[in-house]
Amino acid sequence: MRTISLLAPTRIVIMVLSLCLAPFAASPAGAAPTEVDCTKCHSRLVVKMKIVHTPLQRGCPYCHTGIADALKVPHKKTNAITKGLSAEQPELCYGCHGRSEFTKKVVHAAVGMGCTGCHTPHAGNNEKLLVAAVPDLCFNCHDKGEFTKTKKHSPIVAGKCLACHDPHSSDYPGILVKSPNEICLDCHGQIKTSSHVGGVFGKAGHPLGGERSLKGAGKQPVKDPKRKGKIFSCASCHNPHSSDEIKLFRYPAKTPSQLCSYCHTTKAVGSTGGLP
Ligand code: HEC
Ligand code: HEC
Ligand code: HEC
Ligand code: HEC
Ligand code: HEC
Ligand code: HEC
Ligand code: HEC
Ligand code: HEC
Ligand code: HEC
Repeated sequence: MRTISLLAPTRIVIMVLSLCLAPFAASPAGAAPTEVDCTKCHSRLVVKMKIVHTPLQRGCPYCHTGIADALKVPHKKTNAITKGLSAEQPELCYGCHGRSEFTKKVVHAAVGMGCTGCHTPHAGNNEKLLVAAVPDLCFNCHDKGEFTKTKKHSPIVAGKCLACHDPHSSDYPGILVKSPNEICLDCHGQIKTSSHVGGVFGKAGHPLGGERSLKGAGKQPVKDPKRKGKIFSCASCHNPHSSDEIKLFRYPAKTPSQLCSYCHTTKAVGSTGGLP
């Protein structure tokens, strides 16, 4: 991103001069007549970009309502809002983009940090005006180590974070696009019909989560015995991203049966009574 110090007038002059020499290309088609052609000096924001944000066609002051005399640099602002915008984010964006998409039960903390953490409001070369393509975008804030252990889940190798997560908000934990088990069964449907962990466990297979009736408490989701606040799901035994263990196990285990003791006391493995 371009940053110009207010304390460096020579650089500003150079920038203004060089940008004024830039070939005409920046003025968006059908721009509303404004007193000043902002792109004369700010062509870099839009020139040679593949994707231009639609409202730019209505002219820059459409969002930057608070820039007074644009020919005077630094600009004088007529309001107290960042960059002379008509509203702070995300309200500015909700003016045109339905708020409901961003305010479902589980909201990505990144949305609270501002839409422009991920999107440029002007123009860019990535799909959906993203500041970087997925998954690199995600690694701007999330430690890559979690996704690059020795065994990587196939959708991670393909960079498909959005196969499982909504970037904005969702009704499911982990901003998943579906409930935790459903998301896995989309691609691993055979597990529904086979006996999972059958080799160690026998014909019935290990329970895979869902709801249980509790005495006097109605139906409740089964809880993950190992991770507080999480429900019991495929992701209780498997790391959905990557792992140093066989079968993407979440915990160190060289064989399937070594995994059991993380949740069941050794004596009582083979019954739910063994759960802590
Ligand atoms: C004469 C050249 C020129 C014109 C015309 C111009 N700008 Fe600027 N603008 C600059 C320069 C140089 C800077 C960087 C100096 C600064 O940070 O204030 C700047 C900075 C800005 C900033 C950042 C201010 C901040 O608070 O960081 C915004 C927003 C902006 N311009 C919007 C506009 C809009 C909208 C228009 C048209 C209405 C416009 N500019 C027209 C030269 C110009
Ligand atoms: C859809 C609303 C919208 C429109 C239309 C718009 N801007 Fe912006 N502009 C923003 C937002 C939001 C920011 C703050 C970005 C941030 O904080 O990261 C911004 C920031 C800026 C900045 C500060 C430097 C930067 O990149 O952050 C300049 C300069 C600027 N805009 C110029 C323009 C010009 C010139 C136009 C017309 C070509 C324009 N804007 C049209 C929303 C808009
Ligand atoms: C003045 C109305 C307006 C405002 C304000 C506005 N947008 Fe948009 N935006 C649009 C329109 C119109 C489209 C095109 C919609 C379409 O094609 O379905 C669009 C498209 C987008 C797209 C998709 C681009 C693509 O290539 O498909 C993104 C991302 C986006 N806007 C983000 C933002 C963000 C972030 C903000 C706030 C900084 C914002 N918008 C503010 C009107 C607006
Ligand atoms: C964590 C990064 C991130 C943040 C923060 C973020 N977005 Fe997005 N946004 C994305 C990604 C990734 C996509 C592409 C989704 C896809 O391709 O399915 C997207 C897509 C969009 C689209 C296009 C939707 C479509 O169906 O074409 C709009 C509009 C949009 N975002 C607006 C916003 C607004 C407004 C905010 C702030 C309230 C915001 N985004 C915050 C990552 C983000
Ligand atoms: C601008 C920074 C930023 C970007 C970019 C970003 N995130 Fe996040 N994300 C956060 C923060 C902050 C949290 C909350 C703290 C945490 O859990 O690490 C979070 C949490 C999450 C969570 C856990 C949500 C929950 O409620 O359990 C998921 C899943 C997630 N992000 C996925 C993504 C994906 C996928 C992308 C890329 C499309 C992405 N993030 C890009 C900042 C970001
Ligand atoms: C196959 C589906 C799937 C894919 C693909 C996927 N995730 Fe996840 N992710 C999940 C599930 C399921 C959880 C919740 C795990 C749990 O129960 O704690 C999760 C949790 C997270 C969290 C919360 C912290 C944590 O580790 O529990 C972050 C951050 C995250 N994912 C980011 C990403 C990013 C970035 C990508 C792409 C590089 C990605 N995910 C791809 C399924 C997926
Ligand atoms: C978009 C499709 C897709 C989704 C969604 C998905 N997977 Fe996978 N998964 C694959 C593919 C492809 C493979 C590799 C082919 C194979 O071994 O069957 C794989 C392999 C695996 C493996 C075996 C790894 C090994 O080393 O043998 C496990 C365990 C696994 N996935 C668990 C999960 C879990 C848990 C979820 C939900 C959080 C999930 N998968 C969601 C596509 C997916
Ligand atoms: C109680 C722990 C546990 C749960 C819950 C669990 N798995 Fe597994 N999973 C295992 C073990 C152990 C293995 C290795 C089985 C073997 O080799 O006999 C395995 C193997 C796999 C494999 C590799 C296939 C194969 O036969 O090698 C996939 C794919 C998989 N699981 C997906 C899932 C999905 C999807 C869910 C949720 C619907 C799920 N698992 C729930 C423990 C679990
Ligand atoms: C991540 C934690 C976890 C791991 C690892 C795990 N289990 Fe479980 N197990 C559970 C939970 C939770 C239940 C209760 C499920 C329910 O009530 O639906 C359960 C239930 C059981 C039951 C009772 C089945 C029933 O129908 O009531 C047996 C037997 C069992 N596990 C054996 C094993 C064995 C053998 C292993 C190793 C291959 C294993 N478990 C690994 C969490 C785990």
